[in-house]
Amino acid sequence: MRNPISTPDFETYSMDILLTGAKVNGDTVDVSWTDGQTSRYHHMWLRDNCACSGCIDPNSHERVDSIAIIPAEIRPLNVKVGLHGGLVVEWEQKVGECNGVSEYHPGWLRAFDYSNGSKPIEGWEMKTWGQDLEDDLPMFSAQEVFENEDVKYDFLVAIRTLGLAIVTDMPKDYEAFERISSQIGLLRDMNWGKIFEIIPKPDGEYIANRGFALDAHSDASTREYQPGFQIFQCVENTATGGESFWVDGFYIAEIMKRDYPDQYELLTTVPWEFANRSKGTHYRWTAPVLELDLAGNITAVRDTTWLREPLRQDFDMVPKLMEAYRTYVDLKSRRENQVERKLVEGDVAFVDNRRCLHGRRAFVPGSGMRHIRTCYGEREELISSIRMIERARNARENL
Ligand SMILES: [Fe+2]
Ligand SMILES: [Zn+2]
Repeated sequence: MRNPISTPDFETYSMDILLTGAKVNGDTVDVSWTDGQTSRYHHMWLRDNCACSGCIDPNSHERVDSIAIIPAEIRPLNVKVGLHGGLVVEWEQKVGECNGVSEYHPGWLRAFDYSNGSKPIEGWEMKTWGQDLEDDLPMFSAQEVFENEDVKYDFLVAIRTLGLAIVTDMPKDYEAFERISSQIGLLRDMNWGKIFEIIPKPDGEYIANRGFALDAHSDASTREYQPGFQIFQCVENTATGGESFWVDGFYIAEIMKRDYPDQYELLTTVPWEFANRSKGTHYRWTAPVLELDLAGNITAVRDTTWLREPLRQDFDMVPKLMEAYRTYVDLKSRRENQVERKLVEGDVAFVDNRRCLHGRRAFVPGSGMRHIRTCYGEREELISSIRMIERARNARENL
């Protein structure tokens, strides 16, 4: 059965746990559940989340009214357990287009219970890694990713959890690349275009087009919002050298936090400047190398050697900050913290650009061909694709 009671979203909710009772208690409605738990919801919260057809547009499932139309003293006239085991609230005042009676789906109400310490769903389960992942690289066949939703799901979750996954046996044409890349979601246009060909060019505008070794880095650290992931398709790789390697920036941050807490503090709080040197654009951004969220969890690494500006910080801070950065660079440069693979034709590597640093060993231009095709997208596209598969699974499970 699809949700028997409207919810303000497109998800399907479980009907396993129902309400057994509901009563007004001061400024909250207190409810009890069939599993013995109790929950409390403020009147204002309940009214703000009324899912009736006057409050939530039935087509878009978007909220119609501002919270400002709800009187501060809003109170229920009656509360009861509804026919389907949800909560029914009849309101004293009828405002806006609300029909004056709110019915809350029990599964929805339980999922959004905030009275038992639950917090918004944020981040995701994450597993950090060092060289150990080299023997256990998450690899998926292109055909299976295209044809089997369960494999596609595991592939997307691997990128989310590890920040790195490799698809093998991809046809190497441009269209196939667009097709596999779009498995994640919309791609991001950059100033050099949507898709960039990394091939040796003696006069190349970017050092990626030269034979240099590139140390592990995130791309586009000059942007206010660094791309959330990057995709690399190996079209040809017969040149001598040119092995790819990856470093889990979150793992490096963990080591720094544990072994060099003072330097970790500097790298997470003192901003660095990054600026590009492209002939036709001038991107520039200032932020710490290691970015934390409000809870102090690492959310991004911003670090591109060739895009770093000379430090402009308080005079006494400069040597300390450079020392901290050198520790971090030393850690990311250790083989024990790197996963290496010489990409072969048909490989497509997916990396979380704000977490999994990518680098390459030097190669000898002219010793063979090295052609890597690359593009960018956003983490939120990846997460949205994962959630769409989960939504479909939930709908099937709650049939
Ligand atoms: Fe790069
Ligand atoms: Zn309503």
